[in-house]
Amino acid sequence: MSQKPKITLTRRFPEAVIERAEQNYDAAVNRDDTAWDGDELIRRAAESDGLLISSWDKCTAEVIGRLPDRVKILASFSVGYEHVDLEAAKARGLIITNTPDVLTDATADTALLLLLAASRRAREGMAMVVEDRWPRWTPTQLLGVQAGGHRLGILGMGRIGRALAARGRALGMEIHYHNRSRLAADLEQGATYHASAEDLLRVSDFLSIHCELTAETEKLLNAERIALLPEGAIVVNTARGGIVDDDALIAALETGRVFAAGLDVFNGEPNVDPRYRGLENAFVLPHIGSATVDTRDAMGFRALDNLDAHFRGEDPPDRLT
Ligand code: 8YV
Repeated sequence: MSQKPKITLTRRFPEAVIERAEQNYDAAVNRDDTAWDGDELIRRAAESDGLLISSWDKCTAEVIGRLPDRVKILASFSVGYEHVDLEAAKARGLIITNTPDVLTDATADTALLLLLAASRRAREGMAMVVEDRWPRWTPTQLLGVQAGGHRLGILGMGRIGRALAARGRALGMEIHYHNRSRLAADLEQGATYHASAEDLLRVSDFLSIHCELTAETEKLLNAERIALLPEGAIVVNTARGGIVDDDALIAALETGRVFAAGLDVFNGEPNVDPRYRGLENAFVLPHIGSATVDTRDAMGFRALDNLDAHFRGEDPPDRLT
């Protein structure tokens, strides 16, 4: 009988995922779920033919260059892949895969949650109840912004952006978007295309960020671009913290220039800029965009599908390099 390929799971992924990995592979699992740095990753990869990684594993050119030769594939348990240096992987002939599609709905649901929570002042309201600070009902208490009838600007109209657009339409919002290229009419579904991010910002009563973090999008939402937003706009981010300039967003939240923000992702996670903690108009979550039982299982299974295809000698379906 031929030997099972050896793989390493860098995190304690959901139990159903670990179970399937252990059935089909000689699998080493980081059951302690401690975060491994580059040295530890390389040490643990010594006996592996492939790795199932998460976006917390920073696979820089330096780390990729030091990976043992026998490692031929890194299957990431994520749709985002900014944690992997794709150029370095390509140069080394290392296969990288991600997990598109399966987390689209969960992430769009989280964006909707943030959009509503921020615009309806959920953090302040919840604090009033939980901290026993609700004096009485008044006709003008905690007045927020109605989503319906307002313009929803979507920055990055990929799968998740389009799934949020559908949710926005259900709320009666008018959908606008900017994307690297204009979508076909059947994907656009009547949304208005803006050729530049700046043009989109000018009409975004609500702005939701869904683009990738790249050198071009890093700190894209800076003070100059925030100044283009309509007065009292609402900002939602479920993509990557690096797309937002925290100094600029925090300043705009402090003055009310931005009415509220709903944020699931941050610069330097999990070390969130402490100023967000004190801002009542910042509704903040700890990167739970894809955190449902079904979705996290599906992400793990999709990553394993990619590993399975590779070890069968086929092209993995979600191959990035
Ligand atoms: C994950 C994500 O929680 O898939 C992504 O890109 O941001 C999240 O859904 C996380 O990155 C898992 O590795």
